[in-house]
Amino acid sequence: MTYHAQFDLTGKVALVTGGAGLLGPEHAAALAHAGAIAVVTDVNGAAAEDVAVRLGKEFGADRVVALPMDVTDSGSIARTRESLLKRFGRVDILVNNAAIDPKVKADSLVETSRFEHFPLEQWDFQIRVGLTGALLCSQAFGGWMAANGGGVILNIASDLSVFAPDQRIYRKDGLPEDRQPVKPVTYSIIKTGLVGLTRYLATYWADKKVRVNALSPGGVYVNQPESFVQKLTNLIPLGRMARRDEYRGTVQFLCSEASSYMTGQNIVVDGGRSVW
Ligand SMILES: NC(=O)c1ccc[n+]([C@@H]2O[C@H](COP(=O)([O-])OP(=O)(O)OC[C@H]3O[C@@H](n4cnc5c(N)ncnc54)[C@H](O)[C@@H]3O)[C@@H](O)[C@H]2O)c1
Repeated sequence: MTYHAQFDLTGKVALVTGGAGLLGPEHAAALAHAGAIAVVTDVNGAAAEDVAVRLGKEFGADRVVALPMDVTDSGSIARTRESLLKRFGRVDILVNNAAIDPKVKADSLVETSRFEHFPLEQWDFQIRVGLTGALLCSQAFGGWMAANGGGVILNIASDLSVFAPDQRIYRKDGLPEDRQPVKPVTYSIIKTGLVGLTRYLATYWADKKVRVNALSPGGVYVNQPESFVQKLTNLIPLGRMARRDEYRGTVQFLCSEASSYMTGQNIVVDGGRSVW
């Protein structure tokens, strides 16, 4: 196998959950670029459709498919699986990407994000999307792979799977201590839990040739306030936040034969933040 052939995903069917947000289209583009048929799924079906139309122009309309899918709804997942199997007869790659990423805003989240007041309904909701959703999709699509010769699951975690949020970067001048915004507890729990799911499934399905790894990205720059960016980039050896397209190579690596001897790992791509 030549060097580039190891990354070739031609003929593979690759499904991305939460595919219509910031990073989902990047994962889908990475997979399509490597030759796969990228299936962009999202609870927002119209937004998934828009992504598929946009990526279809780049990679070919027959290479990017959109389907509505709510990762918290096993009926919705089953319908997607049925539709994919009917159309392509296979599913080779699952990227568990859907999550609720609560943005830290002083004006809206301050009452709810602090640990002492964190609402149980937010805990339930965010865990249901970010963690239970990955479980249900792994059961449905990973289960099919395990029964049909193997495949790849990639769980999109976060740098917060390997360290605690540095709440100092979210502080706002002029607010009392008990009203300072923080990154909510759910995010750390969900992302750390995804790494646990990664290890569990990697060993559980190793003999079925389903490889399971996690990718832990650092924060992507999307015009956040300058003061926040300054505080965050001071913590990053490479001195900047990520571009949205900077995870494509790792997605191609982890979803292809290039990583054939790797399973159960959490690959941290964070500009070096976690080693400082
Ligand atoms: N953006 C970053 O800087 C960053 C950094 C580290 C990790 N991550 C992780 O990367 C992943 C993608 O992040 P993003 O920035 O693109 O988030 P995003 O909020 O832009 O997109 C998330 C998508 O998930 C969808 N979604 C929400 N609930 C769903 C459900 N029940 N079923 C199906 N889809 C649902 C949303 O409609 C949205 O399109 C997440 O797991 C996030 O935690 C992002």
